[in-house]
Amino acid sequence: MSGASISVQGLAHRYGRAAAALTVLDRLDIEVDGGGYVAITGASGAGKSTLLSVLGGLDAPQRGTVVIDENDLHDLSRNGLADYRRDTVGFVFQHFGLLDTLTAAENIELACSLDGMRPRARRSRARELLEAVGLLERRDHRPTALSGGERQRVAIARALANRPRLVLADEPTGNLDDGSTERVIELLESLPADHACTLVLVTHDRRLAARAQQRYELRGGRLHPSTKVTTEHATAIGDPEEPDAVA
Ligand SMILES: Nc1ncnc2c1ncn2[C@@H]1O[C@H](COP(=O)(O)OP(=O)(O)OP(=O)(O)O)[C@@H](O)[C@H]1O
Ligand SMILES: [Mg+2]
Repeated sequence: MSGASISVQGLAHRYGRAAAALTVLDRLDIEVDGGGYVAITGASGAGKSTLLSVLGGLDAPQRGTVVIDENDLHDLSRNGLADYRRDTVGFVFQHFGLLDTLTAAENIELACSLDGMRPRARRSRARELLEAVGLLERRDHRPTALSGGERQRVAIARALANRPRLVLADEPTGNLDDGSTERVIELLESLPADHACTLVLVTHDRRLAARAQQRYELRGGRLHPSTKVTTEHATAIGDPEEPDAVA
């Protein structure tokens, strides 16, 4: 089993009505194979979070088609969208979104309970996920007793609770220092292979975006392929075309 495929055609999204309407997404297209890793950059207000809301079933698509595996989101009722979110999607946000009154393990167990898992299965799933993100020894700590990077790793574990086939991460490293950012990104990048999901990452950091298989800039309501940031890489490995590199 691999991650969910994404097929979006002509997606439009606007806020408000008539003269006051703000068109945020404008005939946007994107195709992603199951198990893919997509990074999206774009200016503040470009519509990145709006796009993730639609892909994640938080907002119904207004126009165009959005098909995630066999789910055409246009055809789903409110309840259908809620089922789709619970069964298919895992969300990771900039501000972690953990409940401060619960321990790391309990935050994950709570997410498992939404899927109707029994208490024993919930405890074992939480344990397995905390181990996967390297925080088993922190299982009884509340979020306030964890560093930012540790909180985000718990939040990623929680996003995986119900074995989502699509993980949507909105600025997941926006609140982290460089060291924590690297660890969180490595963890996210491992998800398609290790947890059989497709990953869509929104980031302001072009260096992080450059590591994805598919890279886009959201601009003018559409996704534009963005070229890989290759300069550092080329310098590090040397360019065979470069005369100096030939002995
Ligand atoms: N519920 C809403 N009602 C009206 N306008 C909204 C709503 N949500 C977002 N917008 C507007 O839509 C535009 C796109 O917002 P969105 O949050 O998708 O941008 P973004 O690319 O995620 O920005 P950022 O990088 O700052 O998070 C913005 O101009 C925003 O003000
Ligand atoms: Mg945003």
